[in-house]
Amino acid sequence: MSGRIRVGLVGIGNCFSGLIQGIEYYRRNPEQSIIGIIHDRLAGYGIHDIDFVCGFDVGENKVGRTINEAIYAHPNMVDWIPADTMPKTDALVHESPALDGVGIWVENRIKPIRSTKTAEQLRGEIVRTIRETGTQVLVSYLPVGSEEATKFWAQVCLDTGTAFVNCIPSFIASDKAWAERFRQKGVPVIGDDIKGQVGATIVHRTLARLCNDRGTRITKTYQINVGGNTDFLNMKEQERLVSKRISKTESVQSQLDERLGDDNIYVGPSDFIPFLGNTKLMFMRIEGRQWANIPYNMEVRLEVDDKANSAGIVIDAIRLAKIALDRGEGGPVIPASAYLMKHPIKQMSDPDAKAACERFVASEGV
Ligand SMILES: NC(=O)c1ccc[n+]([C@@H]2O[C@H](COP(=O)([O-])OP(=O)(O)OC[C@H]3O[C@@H](n4cnc5c(N)ncnc54)[C@H](O)[C@@H]3O)[C@@H](O)[C@H]2O)c1
Repeated sequence: MSGRIRVGLVGIGNCFSGLIQGIEYYRRNPEQSIIGIIHDRLAGYGIHDIDFVCGFDVGENKVGRTINEAIYAHPNMVDWIPADTMPKTDALVHESPALDGVGIWVENRIKPIRSTKTAEQLRGEIVRTIRETGTQVLVSYLPVGSEEATKFWAQVCLDTGTAFVNCIPSFIASDKAWAERFRQKGVPVIGDDIKGQVGATIVHRTLARLCNDRGTRITKTYQINVGGNTDFLNMKEQERLVSKRISKTESVQSQLDERLGDDNIYVGPSDFIPFLGNTKLMFMRIEGRQWANIPYNMEVRLEVDDKANSAGIVIDAIRLAKIALDRGEGGPVIPASAYLMKHPIKQMSDPDAKAACERFVASEGV
């Protein structure tokens, strides 16, 4: 299979900025091997075979601009490729219904457009845009806590036959009822909540698995994350975090031989430190017991650019969603969701998930 992939974007924030600037980085540096992806070409699709054909946002300084301009608009802060050297594109950012997308902490920074249109009016315009642009895969990078907005976009995908990649912890691909709707319509969905390349989740899962594989018992563990972008600012609103906590905690719990009691595990985004920008710091501790019930513990500090971390994964998710679409496979793409997402409908160990992805790409079944 080969060809191009026509992608629509929901939420033109830092993650998308990193994705698009990263693709441009590799275009300018063709001698460099592409770091992190499963393969340069997945069933024929390379990273330069992606066309971003439409975008959707609520920011008054993003709606109406081209995607390549909007990715640099405040409060976005990814600046890997100078804005004035970015290739010009025609693809526009269109208005999205705000619904529950903008939380109390970020509304001064995002400044939502003052809309005169209802969500239903916008739905009609959006469906038209998706059809006119020939969008095949829609990727959602909405803010955490956008439960209603995520359902809106999942329904748009079902109505238009567009594959859905849900990068946030609002459960669609991992929700039985939504998964069934996608299956019945023959529309692929990959989700939920992207698992960074070398992020807090994968490091925590891997070390927890190591402790159990070496026969020790884990008794307590925590993971604290801080960062300085709008994603972290938004997550100061505790009410928006319910599904994020479930997603992050279950991702670790699923790797343990014995589940930890609620009081013995804490996994969460924990605070906003403005000067960190897109740098995320993760502090993790595991306590356990080994031979003769002797205690041990470990602590890890991870410092990472959160946007590079996410883009290196979504570039595969987009291509895997298109492969499923080409093959007419509807419903959750299980290997891709298990490998790339924190909260898939079916959790696997990370090596098993990667092997299942390889088999899926090679079309050997999972
Ligand atoms: N490593 C990672 O960065 C990572 C990992 C897992 C999940 N995520 C999730 O990805 C999401 C995006 O992260 P980000 O850093 O790009 O966030 P961001 O705050 O930079 O961008 C969010 C964008 O969504 C827009 N928006 C808000 N409400 C909207 C609506 N109703 N419709 C359309 N657009 C709307 C905002 O205007 C903004 O442009 C977050 O939920 C984050 O938690 C990121």
